[in-house]
Amino acid sequence: MGLKRVGILTGGGDCSGLNAVIRAVTRAAIIGYGAEVIGIEGGFEGLITGHTQELTVRNTRDILTLGGTILGTTNKGNPFEYRQLAPDGTITVSDFSDKAMETYRSLGLDCLFVVGGEGTLEIAYKFQLKGANVVGIPKTIDNDLEGTDYTFGYQTAVEIVCDALDRLHTTGKSHQRVMILEVMGRTAGWIALEAGIAGGAHIILIPEIPYNIDKVVEKILLREKGGSPFSIIVVAEGAKEEGGDVIVQASASTRLQGVPQLGGVSAYLADQIKKRVDLEVRYTVLGHIQRGGSPCAFDRILGTRLGSEAVRAAAEGKFGTMVALKTPNVVLVPLSELAGRVRRVPLDSQLIRTAEAIGISMGR
Ligand code: F6P
Repeated sequence: MGLKRVGILTGGGDCSGLNAVIRAVTRAAIIGYGAEVIGIEGGFEGLITGHTQELTVRNTRDILTLGGTILGTTNKGNPFEYRQLAPDGTITVSDFSDKAMETYRSLGLDCLFVVGGEGTLEIAYKFQLKGANVVGIPKTIDNDLEGTDYTFGYQTAVEIVCDALDRLHTTGKSHQRVMILEVMGRTAGWIALEAGIAGGAHIILIPEIPYNIDKVVEKILLREKGGSPFSIIVVAEGAKEEGGDVIVQASASTRLQGVPQLGGVSAYLADQIKKRVDLEVRYTVLGHIQRGGSPCAFDRILGTRLGSEAVRAAAEGKFGTMVALKTPNVVLVPLSELAGRVRRVPLDSQLIRTAEAIGISMGR
């Protein structure tokens, strides 16, 4: 099948490499099939508002290295459960999916490329079931999507965290302090674990392994006894203490988003440690720095490969799928197999074994 007109949107939290995908989809669709490419602005919300722009080889030039997404994104725009804030503070939830389908049809799209994480791809699947032709492209810095070895944006985040750890190392060592770095990772600890190993952390705390504060303190004291009173701890925002809960920040946007905003575990952990050891403790929350800026080479390549293979899949009529990296190839995975599934760090993973084998404490 040929492709005459295709659309692309980016949904959910942004990450480095989104523009590499937009560029690759645009170029592959135009160069390979002479198709017109329509960029839907602001994620699925663009299908409600009708805000679009034509993408060309010319206007997607020079965006390969650019962070963010030229189309904009939101993690509040689920058309099936569209949340709006009334002046009196109440939230209304409405179904705008028919309106979004109307826009899809009026644009005359042969295929809609949906670039997003687990939540966005679940919405994409619902649109597929409603009759749209959809091909998904996996994105998230958390690397927690089923079906693909890696998502783009993740490797860049790992590089950023690793750089931060290198910097905390020098200041922490100079002052003989316990330095805590809080990184992203809601339910999966991939960033903390891999960046922690790469950055020479002494303690890594991930959502998959609720930590025991006595074990954390034991490791710090062991290092102090061995002549190194300074320690580096990486903690994922979604990590929690044994028997405790994840630490959530409340805000209006959280209510609109419907997903709790995490953050604060490093401050909590710092307090716990200070109460137990006579060492100075400092914490840093890296936050959205992990999501901004230029993608690393791995993510540029991955984004470009996924974008161009997504166009090929659409041209072959393979809708209702997601392009995925199954090293060394990009393959297609049915969206139906992914809905609602998150890939967490398996407790028997070699990565955890490696970390513990070289003396890193996982807080257990
Ligand atoms: O899912 C990706 C992610 O970066 C999470 O690690 C983090 O909890 C969340 O997005 C933050 O989202 P927001 O941009 O809404 O603060």
